[in-house]
Amino acid sequence: MEESSTQDHIELDEDTADLGTSPIPAAPYYQPDYFALEVEAIFRRSWLQIGHVCELPEPGSYIVREIEIADASILITRGRDDVIRAFHNVCTHRGTQLVSECEGSRSRFSCPYHRWTFADDGELLSAPDFERFYVDKADCALTPVAVDVCARLIFVNLDATPQESLAEFLGPLATELEELPSAQATTFSEYTYEIEANWKLTYDNFQENYHLRFIHPRSGAAAAGPQNPFGYPVNFGFHGTHRTQTIWSNPDARPLPFQGLAFVKGAELAMRDGFGDVTRAKQYYAIFPNLFLLGSPMTPFSQCVIPLSPTRSRGVIRLYWNGEDDCASRRFAREYAMATARDIHSEDRAVIEAGQRGLNSGALTHIHFQSQEILCRHLFQEVNRRVENWRAERDAAGRALL
Ligand code: FES
Ligand SMILES: [Fe+2]
Repeated sequence: MEESSTQDHIELDEDTADLGTSPIPAAPYYQPDYFALEVEAIFRRSWLQIGHVCELPEPGSYIVREIEIADASILITRGRDDVIRAFHNVCTHRGTQLVSECEGSRSRFSCPYHRWTFADDGELLSAPDFERFYVDKADCALTPVAVDVCARLIFVNLDATPQESLAEFLGPLATELEELPSAQATTFSEYTYEIEANWKLTYDNFQENYHLRFIHPRSGAAAAGPQNPFGYPVNFGFHGTHRTQTIWSNPDARPLPFQGLAFVKGAELAMRDGFGDVTRAKQYYAIFPNLFLLGSPMTPFSQCVIPLSPTRSRGVIRLYWNGEDDCASRRFAREYAMATARDIHSEDRAVIEAGQRGLNSGALTHIHFQSQEILCRHLFQEVNRRVENWRAERDAAGRALL
């Protein structure tokens, strides 16, 4: 059968002419120099999703999260006053990492070295023989990190003075995100993977459907059909630095009996959990720089692609739930949703890594994105704009010192 393009029924939410059609340089997908610029220009100064409010269930709860590329360890607390705060996990005496567990519950944090003790609001409460120091306790509080919450997702920004608030950064999308299942969730299932691939190459895999029919002929069969053989999305949206797409759903998809059972059970539970209308179109949010959220009550999914090196990344995938598993059918529906996500991602992994090996060879000066890979093009343009701006700022500051 001759393949028909679905280009005709793709509606662009706005003119994408600014994104261009030129080939994209390959070096930013493997070169250490470019990666170092991304760390400074993006990851040290953007809002990064790092957790969910349900990880801090009560006053005294805390979590510690590492941001390896910035050599940062972040302590996030829910204080006795119920306020969520974040700090560098660094004792202000001589810099020892204060907390070694990744989560727990307590309202005081004592440094293992000389026992300086901090409150959950960062204040230095006590320090042995403090009279011998030449500083006030009030000047020894933990170093705060900017933190804020949207849709019960916790974001931090490593910039000591962020250029914009989380609400400004998310813009009108913030209201839409508050409608997502994560905003109702009380728990989640998680799996993480590490992959030998650049963070953008990995992320791009999840924002184009061009590969779907070749890499997911079995698991992705329901997402493509004769009217849309590549399973391209219904539309794309560009929201400043962020992106969205509405996923096409195949009206002719025929699930296997056990898939149908999981679907019916999942739909029942999603409605009971208040996750919204299970029949509404799936909206996929690509939040800059490295977060995906799926706005579907049936697949309450997020993925964060965390850069570890120019050619290594970690993916954190979460499915959000409301309430514990309290019956076998709930357990089945959740396990099925997670198993499906794992299935699809395990199929992607080998080609992403093969792509990285090819790029690492330096054989290509450029790569190409077609019109249905526009979200990948948009990510590169956003990254590159920030990298170039930061490089210009740094060079201007360098010249001023001369
Ligand atoms: S380094 Fe923490 S108390 Fe000395
Ligand atoms: Fe895929």
